[in-house]
Amino acid sequence: MATKKATNRREFISTSLKGGLAITVGLGAASPLLQSFSTQPNIASPGSNTGFDQQPLPYKYDALENVIDSMTMEIHYSKHAAAYSKNVKEAALAEKVDTNRPLEEVLAKISSYSAKMRNNGGGHYNHEMFWQCMQPKKENNAPAGTLLKAIVKDFTSFEYFKKQFGDAGKTRFGSGWAWLYISKNKKLMIGSTPNQDNPLMDTSDIKGFPLLGLDVWEHAYYLKYQNKRADYVDNWWNLVNWDYVASRFDTI
Ligand SMILES: [Fe+2]
Repeated sequence: MATKKATNRREFISTSLKGGLAITVGLGAASPLLQSFSTQPNIASPGSNTGFDQQPLPYKYDALENVIDSMTMEIHYSKHAAAYSKNVKEAALAEKVDTNRPLEEVLAKISSYSAKMRNNGGGHYNHEMFWQCMQPKKENNAPAGTLLKAIVKDFTSFEYFKKQFGDAGKTRFGSGWAWLYISKNKKLMIGSTPNQDNPLMDTSDIKGFPLLGLDVWEHAYYLKYQNKRADYVDNWWNLVNWDYVASRFDTI
């Protein structure tokens, strides 16, 4: 078990991951994203974890044209995602959850809470992350540096990674998410979850720290793509904010 004076951050992180999601005390100087990968994040740094309030969209509704249309973004952000935030706060009030604590604490023990908390807590977390995982369209959009090396190591190539991740989104039956995440043994993994579940939840079949998430609910694409989810997934690669994904990866 790590102590409060963990001097070797990488060693500490490794220990934490091997031990599951339960070790966090003493990470005050570490990345807030790493703190979010824990059941008891250090909240000494205000705002360093996911809160319960919806944060401003980091770009305008029309910034992702012509991959995701402006109306879809407006409805998605201001109606769907806003409702998840509103409803998770209602659930928190009813279930006596301290909303000054990070949402990640609830997700890690979501089996102890109501379906309302699970659906809306997941929905809020997933969308807060999703907005940041995107940016205006870029040609030849691809990761670089250590993240690219890790992708190639674990998936043989970036193209094969995209194929596998894309298939996870395209084949998710009904509504859900595709994920790139880091498992407890520090391996990059691809998977998908139904509804608003995510790999942080103790109820999830896939468990780890999410790096990249793709919303494949129809509300994310139907106005422009109708039944062609595969086209939405294929075009979405032009929007991925790889710097943001790398910033999550670099915390591990
Ligand atoms: Fe969504």
